[in-house]
Amino acid sequence: MTGRDPVTLDFYAAEAQAYAGRSRAAEHARIAAFAAALPAGGSVLELGCGGGQDSEALLARGFAVTPTDGSPELASQAARRLGRPVEVLLFEDLDESDAFDGVWANACLLHVPRQALSAIIGKVQAALKPSGVFYASFKAGTAEGRDRFGRYYNYPSSDWLHGAYGADCWRKLDIDEDMGGGYDGEPTRWLHVLAFKMP
Ligand SMILES: C[S@@+](CC[C@H](N)C(=O)[O-])C[C@H]1O[C@@H](n2cnc3c(N)ncnc32)[C@H](O)[C@@H]1O
Repeated sequence: MTGRDPVTLDFYAAEAQAYAGRSRAAEHARIAAFAAALPAGGSVLELGCGGGQDSEALLARGFAVTPTDGSPELASQAARRLGRPVEVLLFEDLDESDAFDGVWANACLLHVPRQALSAIIGKVQAALKPSGVFYASFKAGTAEGRDRFGRYYNYPSSDWLHGAYGADCWRKLDIDEDMGGGYDGEPTRWLHVLAFKMP
């Protein structure tokens, strides 16, 4: 089962410069909560880093960050911002074991087809060290669909995410909800998931 959507990746390839350059502050409050759960100077893998704003904020906090994105075009935009190489990594190609204290995946796993999401979350869990922390955010909804740009979204509910993560496989799984926006300018209900691996 593929964890990527070609139409979505085509969108990011075509829009990379505009997308990376849009006015977007790093997710400071969420990053602060994530950072508080990590050891000082710990290792963080960022998935789907886009323009690299959150990696920049995590680096500024002293973490050893590995920024990645599945779009070569966005990886190159992020590399320009960060002044360091950014690996082109599709979620489905993540293949690490006990390697990171934290995994940060802001607004990117929402593009993973529903049938593939559990397997990709399993790869993230394997990539985390014991007691590692995993943040991801999703646009909330009830059924998968596409936005006006053609991008695929899994649009989960909180209950659906509990199932996809396998809540019992984590020491703790916190999901909270707020209102926000997106590149499409539409008011959006977001789900923020913080998962803590077993010790
Ligand atoms: C909505 S953007 C979010 C970017 C960034 N995390 C942020 O918050 O600004 C989604 C990102 O996920 C990346 N992406 C989409 N599908 C992917 C896949 N299958 N594997 C890896 N990255 C993917 C896109 O290239 C894009 O940079």
